[in-house]
Amino acid sequence: MLSRRSMLGAGLAAPAAALLAACDPAPSTSGSTSTHTSAASSQPTLTFPAGFVWGAATSAYQIEGAVHEDGRGPSIWDTFVRKGSIVDGSTADVACDHYHRWETDLDLMKSLGIRSYRFSIAWPRIMPEGRGTVNQKGLDFYKRLVDGLHARGIAPLATLFHWDLPQALQDQGGWENRDCAQWFADYAAAVFRALGDGVPTWLTINEPKTIVENGYMSGVMAPGKRDLVAAGVAAHHLALGHGLAVKALRASGGAARIGPALNLAPAYPANPKDEGAKQAAVLADGEENRFYLDPILKGSYPQDVIGTFGPAARTAMTAAIRDGDLATIGAKVDLLGVNYYNPVYVTAKGERVTLKPTSVATWEQIYPQGLTDMLVRLKRDYGDIPLVITENGIPEKGDVKPAGGKLDDPDRITYLRDHLTAAHDAIASGVRVEGYHLWSLLDNFEWAEGYSQRWGIVYVDFQSQQRTPKASANWYRDVIAHNAV
Ligand code: FCB
Repeated sequence: MLSRRSMLGAGLAAPAAALLAACDPAPSTSGSTSTHTSAASSQPTLTFPAGFVWGAATSAYQIEGAVHEDGRGPSIWDTFVRKGSIVDGSTADVACDHYHRWETDLDLMKSLGIRSYRFSIAWPRIMPEGRGTVNQKGLDFYKRLVDGLHARGIAPLATLFHWDLPQALQDQGGWENRDCAQWFADYAAAVFRALGDGVPTWLTINEPKTIVENGYMSGVMAPGKRDLVAAGVAAHHLALGHGLAVKALRASGGAARIGPALNLAPAYPANPKDEGAKQAAVLADGEENRFYLDPILKGSYPQDVIGTFGPAARTAMTAAIRDGDLATIGAKVDLLGVNYYNPVYVTAKGERVTLKPTSVATWEQIYPQGLTDMLVRLKRDYGDIPLVITENGIPEKGDVKPAGGKLDDPDRITYLRDHLTAAHDAIASGVRVEGYHLWSLLDNFEWAEGYSQRWGIVYVDFQSQQRTPKASANWYRDVIAHNAV
């Protein structure tokens, strides 16, 4: 567990419609997933199912800025950035200043034809102390945002927790403290009460794997711990928090859908003929995927993975799992959010190796087929659950600049096209993939990498805060308009 980073048509139409619930009708599309060959090679050739949801993703801490405004409390990331932990020494105090520029950012999305916006709600804006008093001004911001999305015909897809834990809760043990799972559910319930009607789809916790591996094992992300015992316990409490939030939504009586957003990485043997490497890949799959999927979708933890824990970590995690927890965690979800960036390759010794070209982010091996493999496998092993791609993308280096109001990013266009083709392959083989959210709408604060990686289809000048759509934004606009790549 290390590394950042260590059928079409009828089957799809209903859930995809749910993702877009309460929004204006989608622009009409051809209504089939036919594959046709077009005369001009620049013309799209692969058509997506009618109602396929084209989206973009961001997260609160990475774009909002305004960290001291309107009663927001500090988060663990505000603390972490001040420890000299960010490669360029930066903070997200201003970031994309989206807290003040959200209206023009929404206009920009509308101009691209984006139909679904995945954003996250900052827990410390809603509950500055993490629990107890609700900060109305914090809720109001997200109410305005949700209303603004509806006004533009864009469906809100809201993540409840994208890593910005209130510092006050970390001071009480954070995710190592079992109570944190209930605090999360209480916060979620307050958000459902305030926004419930406006948000058709909720995501609970973004990438618990990254929190566990980077926040608690390697320590390169907040809260910056290197403690395998804490990692196992936090992993269970994150899963429990997910389950309790699902329960809170059901208790609220709303019709919205809910599910997790997991970063999944297919694991392959470095040498497919090496039996030892094949076995190592099974375990790596457990660490990368089953450890997070199984409790939620099967109500159990994979014992092969727990078997690799040292005695102290195994004892602590086993003790943390109380009667009834797995039933709570395994309660039915309505969809699974899939963040896909990369596969992993393992040797017979279990070492992770890089066999594919990477993006500027060296952990990100580029292998589009891995997305098809993962989507097909999810249906095979976990059933016909609606899948939504909730993140996928690549960065360029922080120092690129537009020239003459333009920025060409051909590598991103290739990456996005290849991954959309891979998603189409899965759809064509009968997997229910409702939609796609690229990461990211805007260049933003990329966690420990600060502003040294630009993941947006829209360039952000962090001095002037000017936005310049990159070539990929215009390309994506055309993809959406044609419902095809
Ligand atoms: C994912 C995170 C997202 C962003 C992308 C590049 O792991 O969920 O916030 O950092 O990676």
